Amino acid sequence: MREKIEIGIREAIPTDAKALLNCLEKTALQTGFMTMGEEGSGLTVEEESRYIAKLYDSPNNCLIVALLDDKIIGMASIHASDKPKINHIGELGIVVDKEYWGFKIGTELLEEVLRWAEDSETINRIELKVQQRNERAIHLYEKYGFELEGVMQRGVRDDGEFLPVCMMSKLI
Ligand SMILES: CC(C)(COP(=O)(O)OP(=O)(O)OC[C@H]1O[C@@H](n2cnc3c(N)ncnc32)[C@H](O)[C@@H]1OP(=O)(O)O)[C@@H](O)C(=O)NCCC(=O)NCCS
Repeated sequence: MREKIEIGIREAIPTDAKALLNCLEKTALQTGFMTMGEEGSGLTVEEESRYIAKLYDSPNNCLIVALLDDKIIGMASIHASDKPKINHIGELGIVVDKEYWGFKIGTELLEEVLRWAEDSETINRIELKVQQRNERAIHLYEKYGFELEGVMQRGVRDDGEFLPVCMMSKLI
């Protein structure tokens, strides 16, 4: 394990839009593990800002950021539909800037979104997709009780290569 660093975790607010997009676009290029690649998010700062405001006001969506001093170095989200038949299902996403891997920031972000989900009155299933080769992320999810539900063969294509993707879930 690396030495400890003190980070802050809080809910994202609309004025984080630019820094969040920068962090997302940086981390998307650090590994082949994210769905987003060189094409970027395609969102303007204004669009991202409106999106964050919408999430902030939603009872079944959450976006949190990890801050080192004032710099965003990671984020985690749970996104759910507002359709009544499926609004209890939250899709989890999590990413930490590779420069800061191994400081337990992923763990802290995951614990925080799980606490949020447990307190939420709507979410009672969390699901996610993770590449089978992403052992670090799978270790983290299993440690927090996520179970494998299936493997999607050719679930993603990276650098021209088809790769399997695991579907995992945790009931709250
Ligand atoms: C997955 C991710 C969020 C983890 O962040 P992190 O801050 O490095 O995570 P932590 O330091 O809290 O924990 C890492 C854990 O993985 C373990 N680990 C590290 N390398 C590993 C490997 N090759 N295989 C299995 N476990 C591994 C560590 O020992 C630690 O577990 P422990 O706490 O039980 O000792 C980060 O690697 C990341 O952003 N990856 C790219 C984006 C991504 O893959 N997101 C998930 C897509 S679904």
